[in-house]
Amino acid sequence: MEKKVLITGASGLLGRAIYRLFEEDPTWEALGLAFSRAKGKLCKVDLTDPQALEKVVDEFKPSFIIHSAAERRPDMVEKQEEQTKNLNVMATKNLCQVAVKNNAWLLYMSTDYVFDGKSPPYSVDAKPNPLNKYGQSKLDGEKVVLECNKDFGILRVPILYGELEFIKESAVTELFTKLTDTSKSFVVSDYEQRHPTHTRDVAKVIRQMLEKKLEGQALSGVFHWSGNEKMTKYGMICTMASVFNLPHSHIQGDNQPTAGAPRPYDAELDSSRLQSLNIGSYTLFGKGVHECLEPFYKQGT
Ligand SMILES: NC(=O)c1ccc[n+]([C@@H]2O[C@H](COP(=O)([O-])OP(=O)(O)OC[C@H]3O[C@@H](n4cnc5c(N)ncnc54)[C@H](OP(=O)(O)O)[C@@H]3O)[C@@H](O)[C@H]2O)c1
Repeated sequence: MEKKVLITGASGLLGRAIYRLFEEDPTWEALGLAFSRAKGKLCKVDLTDPQALEKVVDEFKPSFIIHSAAERRPDMVEKQEEQTKNLNVMATKNLCQVAVKNNAWLLYMSTDYVFDGKSPPYSVDAKPNPLNKYGQSKLDGEKVVLECNKDFGILRVPILYGELEFIKESAVTELFTKLTDTSKSFVVSDYEQRHPTHTRDVAKVIRQMLEKKLEGQALSGVFHWSGNEKMTKYGMICTMASVFNLPHSHIQGDNQPTAGAPRPYDAELDSSRLQSLNIGSYTLFGKGVHECLEPFYKQGT
C-alpha cells in the first residue's frame, strides 16, 4: 500500500485538520476535496455527482480515503432531508464503490448522535438508536459503508472544535460570541452532557490508524474516539471564561433539554478499542479552546 490518502470535506472543520496533518507530513501524499470553499490546493468536486467523484478517485488512485464530507447541522437536516440523503448516504455509497474498484481502504467519519444518549458510555458494538434525522442519516451512511465492504472502517466522534475559519464554525467555539457580548444576557444549555474533542486529536488518531494498516494491522468496522472531559455547553463557557479571565455572570445555565431537533442527553463514546491498539491523542479542553479562540479574541469577536 502506498502512503496516498484522499480526504473528502477537506475545507470543513474536521477535514481541514486531517488534510493539514497529512499534507505537512512529507512521507504522505494527500489530496483534499472540497466543494463551495475549494481554494488553494483543494480540488473542487461535487460528491453528489457520481461521474465527477469517480474521475477524481480514479486519477489520484489513493490507498486510503477518509470520508469527512457531510451535512452535519441537525436543524438543517430536519429541513433538507432529501439533500442530506444525497450527500450523507448516496454519495457515501458511490464513494465506497469507487474505493472498492481502486482497492482503497475507506474510513467513514460518523457521530455520537447515532445513539440516544440514555445509557452511556457506548461501546463500539452498542446498539444505535438515533433521535434525530441527522443521526439517522449518518447511521444510514454507516450501513452502506459496511454493506459495500465489511473491512472498511467507521470512526464515530463527538462534538468537535479546532482551528477555525470563522467563530461559529463549531458549536463549541460559537459559545464564545455570547461570552464576549456582555451587553446582553444569555441562557445556555446546562443539560446535555458533551465531550468536546479537538479536530487535531481526531486527525492524529486517523493517521495512527492508517500507519497501523500499513504495518498490516486489520482495522475494520466501528471505532470510537472522544475527548475525556464531560461538560455541558454552560460548562464549556465557564472554562472559556476561566482561560480568558472574562466575566460570565451575564450567562445563565438552562437545565431543560435544548429546543429544536431532539438531541441525546449523554452519548459518551467508549474509546477503548483504539486505546487497546495504543492509538490516541488528547488535548485538554481549556488549553485547546484557548488556542483556537485566541486569534478571534485579539481581533475582537
Ligand atoms: N462538527 C462536529 O461537531 C462533528 C461531530 C461529530 C461528527 N462529525 C462528523 O465529522 C465529519 C466532518 O464534519 P465537519 O464538522 O468537518 O463538517 P463541516 O465543517 O460542515 O464541513 C462539511 C464538508 O463537507 C463538504 N461538502 C458539503 N457538501 C458537499 C458536496 N456536495 N460535495 C463535496 N463536498 C461537500 C464541505 O465542502 P465546502 O464547504 O467546500 O462546500 C465541507 O468540506 C462529518 O461526517 C460529520 O458528520 C462532526
